[in-house]
Amino acid sequence: MNILGIETSCDETAAAVVVDGKDVRSNVISSQIAIHQAYGGVVPELAARGQVTAIMPVIRQAVADAGIDWSEIDAIAYTQGPGLAGSLVVGVNAAKGLALSLGVPMVPVHHLEAHVYANWLRSPGEPAGDPELPAICLLVSGGHTELLLIESVGSFRVLGRTIDDAAGEAFDKGARLIGLGYPGGPAVQKASVGGDRARFALPRADLGGSLDFSFSGLKTALLRAVEPYRLPGDEPKGDPAALFPEHRPPRFRDDLPVADLAASFEEAIVSVLADRAVRAAGEHQAKTIMIAGGVAANRRLREAIGERVATTFGADDAPVVRWPELQYCTDNAAMVAGLGYRRYESGVRGSLEADAYPRWPIGAQPAGTGKRS
Ligand code: KG4
Ligand code: ZN
Repeated sequence: MNILGIETSCDETAAAVVVDGKDVRSNVISSQIAIHQAYGGVVPELAARGQVTAIMPVIRQAVADAGIDWSEIDAIAYTQGPGLAGSLVVGVNAAKGLALSLGVPMVPVHHLEAHVYANWLRSPGEPAGDPELPAICLLVSGGHTELLLIESVGSFRVLGRTIDDAAGEAFDKGARLIGLGYPGGPAVQKASVGGDRARFALPRADLGGSLDFSFSGLKTALLRAVEPYRLPGDEPKGDPAALFPEHRPPRFRDDLPVADLAASFEEAIVSVLADRAVRAAGEHQAKTIMIAGGVAANRRLREAIGERVATTFGADDAPVVRWPELQYCTDNAAMVAGLGYRRYESGVRGSLEADAYPRWPIGAQPAGTGKRS
């Protein structure tokens, strides 16, 4: 079954064709990073406008790359939420138009559940091998940080979540504070190469032994660590009332230890994520620990989880640590088409009357998407 997936929840416009929920035939992503870089973060209105112009070329490219005809598309899966309202409606409406004109069903998908599902995708020529369940999934994106227990494909139980900033958001904010670019995660990873992860003692919030996370204290600590290196007179300027005030990076003395700061900051985030994921795996006898979402692209996170698994478990009860291919970690539509297949199989159908759902808790049934038998 050929499913066309559409993803427009934030600033990436993506479309993909996936066969039977697994085999990725095409995966097209158009990024707006260049547009938002000047503002140091995503500007929702610009993101929505960018979606409007990119959506049709991206969808056409995905169908062409898959080497299929429009008539061979069996269903349209699309991200209905959560995300930026103005961006989501572009994908939702494109899905409605295509479903109507092709006469195929539409299948709504939850963006975060799709990130998790990325662990079941495979590129052409790759060996099969589904994750063994039960699994713990550490879902770490720009807007969400959740620890999930997965006992069957497509269902989730939330074991813990952030009580303030998401891990990706912490990376993005921290990167701004030390004058690195946007998006922050990849910039911090790059800057941390060769840095001393132990040079700056940054806080690791322990929330009374729970599996929740907190990253907001980290920003203040990082700000304090860079303050001595700030150039005198480097107060923020610019017109705060402007529609989209331009982001002006802070200016520092030349001896700012960027690599050590980035490495210490990255370690502070990653060590807490790894700690909770491995603890949860022990508590639930998980056979797999999987990572999902944009922060799953982080090399040190993957390494740190592996290290903790090695010191916590014996050789015969150690969970396997896995993550999606890089192109399926950050926002993409292959994960949407993949999960769309599973949802289609279980009878989920979208509705032409349904709106986008900017706020949609993971695991919840959205209002307006009827289940047909
Ligand atoms: O899943 P995603 O592409 O979009 C959302 O649904 O939010 O995640 C984006 C987030 C951003 O905060 C970005 O800084 C972070 O993922 N990210 C990374 C890396 N690559 C992307 N964080 C740490 N290390 C990376 N290599
Ligand atoms: Zn995402």
